[in-house]
Formats: sequence, C-alpha cells, structure tokens
Amino acid sequence: MNNKNSEGKPSRSRKPAADDHAPRSTGKVVVVVPVLTRHPRTDDDSSKSRTRLARSPDARLEEALGLASAIDLEPVHSAVVMVADPRPATLLGAGKVEELAKVVSDTGAGLVFVDHPLTPVQQRNLEKETNAKVLDRTGIILEIFGRRARTKEGALQVELAHLNYQKGRLVRSWTHLERQRGGAGFLGGPGETQIEADRRLLQEKILKLKRELETVRRTRDLHRAKRKKVPFPVVAIVGYTNAGKSTLFNRLTGAGVLAEDMLFATLDPTLRRVRLPHGTTVILSDTVGFISDLPTHLVAAFRATLEEVVEAELVIHLRDISDPDTAAQAEDVERILGDLGVDAANAARVIEVWNKVDLLDEANRTRLIAESEQAGKGPPIAISALTGEGIDALRTLIESRIGGAVETRAVALAPDQLGHLDWIYRNADIVGRTDRDDGGIELTVSAPVERFAEINDRLRRRA
Ligand code: GTP
Repeated sequence: MNNKNSEGKPSRSRKPAADDHAPRSTGKVVVVVPVLTRHPRTDDDSSKSRTRLARSPDARLEEALGLASAIDLEPVHSAVVMVADPRPATLLGAGKVEELAKVVSDTGAGLVFVDHPLTPVQQRNLEKETNAKVLDRTGIILEIFGRRARTKEGALQVELAHLNYQKGRLVRSWTHLERQRGGAGFLGGPGETQIEADRRLLQEKILKLKRELETVRRTRDLHRAKRKKVPFPVVAIVGYTNAGKSTLFNRLTGAGVLAEDMLFATLDPTLRRVRLPHGTTVILSDTVGFISDLPTHLVAAFRATLEEVVEAELVIHLRDISDPDTAAQAEDVERILGDLGVDAANAARVIEVWNKVDLLDEANRTRLIAESEQAGKGPPIAISALTGEGIDALRTLIESRIGGAVETRAVALAPDQLGHLDWIYRNADIVGRTDRDDGGIELTVSAPVERFAEINDRLRRRA
C-alpha cells in the first residue's frame, strides 16, 4: 500500500462543498487503484487499452476518489498499487492483500473500492481477507447512477443494469457452490438448484423492467414529438465528468440547476430554454458526464441519457483543459460520440470548448494553444464557466452556428405591420429605432441572417 498514498489530497478543481449540501458521509472507504504493469493485449482491444494506459495513475486515483465522493463516501486511505502479476484469486498479490487488510482494520473502513474490474471470485476473496465489503468500478458506478437517476427512464435503465450485473455475478460466483434443493420446490422444477431459481427470478424481473422501459420510452417519444413542433434547435453540452458542464449550463441559462461538486451531478439530461444575444432561442441540454472505461453493462443506461445529443443541432464538447488527462478524456468522448453517430470532427455540428482556463498559467495556456493550432484545429474556444471569461464569445458562436452569421440591417415597418413589432423585439437584437411621423417604425436590427428571412416573411403577411 505504500506505492502512493494520496490521503486527504484535495482535488485541484473541486470547490469545498457548501454547507447546505455538505456531504453526509455514508461510510469510510479505502480506495485502491491497481495499475497492471504488464498488460496483455490483443489487437482487438487496442484502442481501449491504449486510452486506459495513457491515463496517469495520479489522474486515475483522483477520478476514483471523485467517484467515491459522488456517493458521499469518506476516503480514509487511497493508494495506487502496481500489479505485476494479477492473481486470479485476489487480483492483488498476497503481501498487498495483507497490507490492505491492515489498513482496513486500522481505519475502521467498512468498504474497499477497487478501481478495476474484479471477478466475483476475486471480490469474494478480498472481502474475506479484508473483512470489509468490496466494490469494483462497475459496482461503484451503479451506485452513483442509482442515486442520480432523476427520470423514470434513467432509473429503470439503472435498475436493469444492476440486475444484469447481479445475474452475471450469480452465475459465475455460485457455480461451484451450487446446492441442490431437492424436488419439493414449486417455484422451480424438481432438482432445480438455488442458483437456477435465483437466476429465474432475476430474469423475470429483468423482463418486467424491459417492458416498463418500453412504455416509458414510448411516452417519451410522444413528448419529444410534441417538443419538435417547438421550433427551437437543441444545443447539447457533453463532456467528461467534472468538466464543468453544469456550471456552464447554469451560466448560460441563469438557472439554478444542480451544479454539485461531485461527479455525475447530472444523470439525466436537463433542458432549458435560452435566449442568445441576438434573439435566437435554443434549448440547452445538460448531459451526464462521460467516464473512462464505462463497463459494458452500463452502456445502455448511459446512452439512454444521451438521446438528446443524437438529436441535437449543435453539440458543445466541453473539456477540462486544466486536467493532465484532458487529451485522453477528449478521445473517450469523441469515441462515444462517434458510436452515437455524431462525428466530432464535423465542425458544423460539434464545437470543442476548453473550460477552466482560469486554472492555466500563461506558459501552459500558450503551449496548449500552439498545440491545438499545430494539430490543425485552429485557435480554441477558451472559457471559464466559473469566472465567466469567454462566455459572451461562446454565446455569439453558438448563435452564429445555429442561425448563420450575425448581421445588422435596417427593417422598416409600415403602420399596418406594427403587430409584428413585439415578435421582432423578442427574436432579434434591436440596436436602433426611429418612430416615423406616419406611424411607421424604422429599426436597426442585429440578428443571424436566417432571422431576416423570417422577419421579411412575417412582414409580407398582415399583422
Ligand atoms: P458531472 O455532472 O459530474 O458530469 O460534472 P460537470 O461536468 O457537470 O461539472 P460541474 O459543473 O459540476 O463542475 C465540476 C467542478 O468544476 C465544480 O467544482 C465546479 O465549480 C468546477 N468548475 C467548473 N467550471 C470551472 C472553471 O471554469 N474553472 C474552475 N476553476 N472550476 C470550474
């Protein structure tokens, strides 16, 4: 346990929690990040492994601590553990397991979070050796999703993922412990083993959930169809966990949406109407954070939260540029966007935005900008959702992407067209106005080009 001990190390960018949501600890946890030094790899999983390997142990440890605190666990000890020879029985070597058991007993932790996939056998053995409950990465993420799911669909997807996870564990962990129950049970046929009965129950629950999900989805589609009639383009903010999506969402909408100092503050998309400087109205969508190596079982639950993204007119890919792992994170996000059919390289559809530039010193800022330009990406859009730097430029950029370049033109309204005045005020930026003696009005209007077509269209109709 002595490879690295980051006990109590505060995260660079996380603010202290405000009193009103000071975390109520749900228990003490020991966080272990195993780093496999010899990584057997096949060509098939190369892209995934590369990304994983590119992540620094420090960043992985910080993310693991973030995951733990997202469910209010209190990390009492954390460590990166080098594993040269992964053991089938315990993953970690005997010496490390012994040290772990000692840390657990010294700190009184009730839980060990091993930030690596564990087989059911490894999980059980570690629990026995440490005398504490052990959760792996999937286990922790399921807990987080479960807590954060706010819509019915999100909650059902998470429950489904949980049941599937349990089912997998059951099968593999019980096979050699199977007990024959004899022929008396009427739930199962004669000779049905406990494991089969448990599996069957789980399977029934899974089917029931799937049916419920279908119903919820159908209603959701109806809602969406209704919303489609509202002619507002959707702008979705996506990004890695803790990139600052909720903070940006709040800054752009001025709404008090949960922006917690936690990972996954937003499992389900949150939608808000936003009026941009030149009168364009969009629906802004805040999405759940991406996470590295999302366990397969959770992909469906995660994707359900990203449906808005697929339909979005514009996607803002928000990056925490101050994070040492920002490049690997961006790669992850782009890959998942690609899976969803959103091409991150399509500049008309996806805007990459650098957040937290307030945390960069001048040298780093210059270096990163130069790198971006060298990579042919052009100068980045750099903001601080926290301080507000760059936000006006971002607003204008979003508006021009949605409605075309902003222009300033003269618009004249005859006396019988004044009924359109209110609409023009609400949907464009009026920078000048002259009320004529004949009762007509001359406006100087600043708006995206598309809007002028709309204005002229309206003026042709009678008020
Ligand atoms: P998830 O919901 O977990 O995906 O996170 P998120 O991307 O919505 O991040 P959130 O807005 O909750 O911000 C995470 C942390 O970063 C919070 O502590 C914010 O205060 C902080 N943060 C956000 N934007 C900035 C920024 O521009 N500068 C700095 N210094 N901190 C920021």
